[in-house]
Amino acid sequence: MGKDHSQAAKELPPEPFEAGQSRVGETLLAGAPLPRHVAIIMDGNGRWARDRGLARIDGHHEGAKSVRKVVRAARAIGIEALTLYAFSEQNWDRPPDEVEALMELLYRYVLEERAEIMDNEIRLTAIGELDRLPQFVREPLDQLMADSADNDEMILCLALSYGGREDLAASMRAIARKVQTGEIQPTRVDERMITEHLSTSYLPPVDLLIRTSGEQRVSNFLLWELAYAELLFVDTMWPDFRKPHLLDAIRAYQQRERRFGRLSAAHAAD
Ligand code: IPE
Ligand code: IPE
Ligand code: MG
Repeated sequence: MGKDHSQAAKELPPEPFEAGQSRVGETLLAGAPLPRHVAIIMDGNGRWARDRGLARIDGHHEGAKSVRKVVRAARAIGIEALTLYAFSEQNWDRPPDEVEALMELLYRYVLEERAEIMDNEIRLTAIGELDRLPQFVREPLDQLMADSADNDEMILCLALSYGGREDLAASMRAIARKVQTGEIQPTRVDERMITEHLSTSYLPPVDLLIRTSGEQRVSNFLLWELAYAELLFVDTMWPDFRKPHLLDAIRAYQQRERRFGRLSAAHAAD
């Protein structure tokens, strides 16, 4: 990362926020830190469609538009990393036609967003069992990940065929192999080592987790990484979640007090 992101909260990037876009009618809190890493469980596509008498896939199509808008907004705000839960390991158990449609959407997303990702210096990465993705998705995805690898304005990480438990198990397996070869001693295995062997090791700590659609669970997303993240559950269905909602979420984050097990600033002064 070539940029000093600690300045991001004080100096919002030059791109102006469209007036009146936020439902609270304001932008972010000047001086309060921005989350470095925002993770989103993009949920509610099916219910959004059902409520309109549409097919589930129509909800996924509209949800893909939200992905475009939210990525653009996150980049404009100055977020360092955005991780989007697009497809869970468990989502493979959905009906084959829905899985197929989601893979088709992913393929189109990668092709259609290529120019915007490159123009905006965004580095695209992915976590999850990418080997399970069909080849027609894997190829353009791998290509864009490789081509954008040196971009350093924002990391956009797609969680695809991802499961938090599965990722932890993979980390444990990697460590176990090193123990077996004698590369590391069992007593050296600590939380940092586990973190370093996760697929998210190159990302900053998750500061804010947003889940849309009113569900209040983490559904096997970033289980380890969420240890001290601020959790925000919003009722908005993902296809309705756009830039104003992201701004609202970040404002809410800015008003939280993070203590990490310590005393609050007010107590500490006593
Ligand atoms: C989220 O929307 C998208 C994925 C999980 C791929 P859902 O498809 O889960 O929508 P609901 O939860 O059924 O409304
Ligand atoms: C979580 O949503 C996975 C993604 C958003 C990709 P789900 O809709 O699959 O989660 P559950 O089944 O409601 O827990
Ligand atoms: Mg869902």
